[in-house]
Amino acid sequence: MQRKFNHLIDLEDYPKEKWNQMIELAQDIMKSPASFSEKCKGKIMATLFYEPSTRTQMSFQTAMIKLGGSIIGFDNPDNSSVSKGENLKDTIKIVSGYSDILVMRSPLEGAAKVGALVADCPVINAGDGGHLHPTQTLTDLLTLKIQKGRLDNLKIGFCGDLKNGRTVHSLVKALSCYNDNEFTFISTKKLEIPLYIKNYLSSKGISFNVAYSIEEAIESLDVLYMTRIQKERFSSEEEYISQKNVYILDAEKMKLADKDMIVLHPLPRVDEITIEVDDDSRAMYFKQANNGVYIRMALILSAIEGAVGAVPLFSGKEFPEIICTNEKCVTHKETYLPHNFTKNGDMLECEYCEQRILMK
Ligand code: NCD
Repeated sequence: MQRKFNHLIDLEDYPKEKWNQMIELAQDIMKSPASFSEKCKGKIMATLFYEPSTRTQMSFQTAMIKLGGSIIGFDNPDNSSVSKGENLKDTIKIVSGYSDILVMRSPLEGAAKVGALVADCPVINAGDGGHLHPTQTLTDLLTLKIQKGRLDNLKIGFCGDLKNGRTVHSLVKALSCYNDNEFTFISTKKLEIPLYIKNYLSSKGISFNVAYSIEEAIESLDVLYMTRIQKERFSSEEEYISQKNVYILDAEKMKLADKDMIVLHPLPRVDEITIEVDDDSRAMYFKQANNGVYIRMALILSAIEGAVGAVPLFSGKEFPEIICTNEKCVTHKETYLPHNFTKNGDMLECEYCEQRILMK
């Protein structure tokens, strides 16, 4: 099935030249915001957030307002007909009829792809469960470009909840498309980077380092990307407690880092970076959050003007009898969806959430 609109579900759907264009446009907007202030006059953006958000939702809304457009939407599905049992398909179908662009966040992995399947306007994935978060990745790339002057040849360490952190998954995939980036994954064994990301890197011939403490890795890094332990994705409180506070970046550890190393964090921070680090000139996470407005302005503008380009939604085929083994996959809740998979040797990969299943 072809996409009718310029959706952004997964950055991988587009060549990196498109991301570079987006980053350049964001930098142009930063230089002269006034010349973009009426570009979306008369246009409406809907934000449908089925999960909590501060930065992503408000930066999208700020972006649309700065472009001269208007906003509608909900940030709590309990206040909408979702609480009456309305399915995702119907909500998206209706709201996309009211708007020129739709931004959605859901706890279900692959939900944004469902949005793209049914919407009558472009859909932007603002996070689908622990799966992907492409607009945070564009924010991160823009920040790296501004702060380091390049997107290649970077030694980047990811620390924290690498299993459930969707921002990490999206950013690793994106940075692996630029040359000579070196990845170090710092996590406990329980929260290590998912197999599908490791497979993704191996399929591109990219090796990576594994570390169990910040101290053993920090000295050699250009960038340290800290993340929060994703409490809401744990099955029990005990499990969460056993993982929280394992990694805390403080002023002592910052002393071990290079003078040019920068610290990024998609935020919200809980305890993983102490407040004292905020005063270190290498702490870039508040600037990073601010950059999110400009990249989202660039994205809204490009998607509405059709400059992103429409690409196919599915490339595999339907296997009606096969059920995705990822319990967080959108196909489990939205049972009317076709079970689409791509075939890779003796594995099937779910086209919504990328879970790999061994064929019998
Ligand atoms: C992140 C998210 O929602 O995945 N936040 C964000 O969008 N800036 C990170 C997180 O919640 O830990």
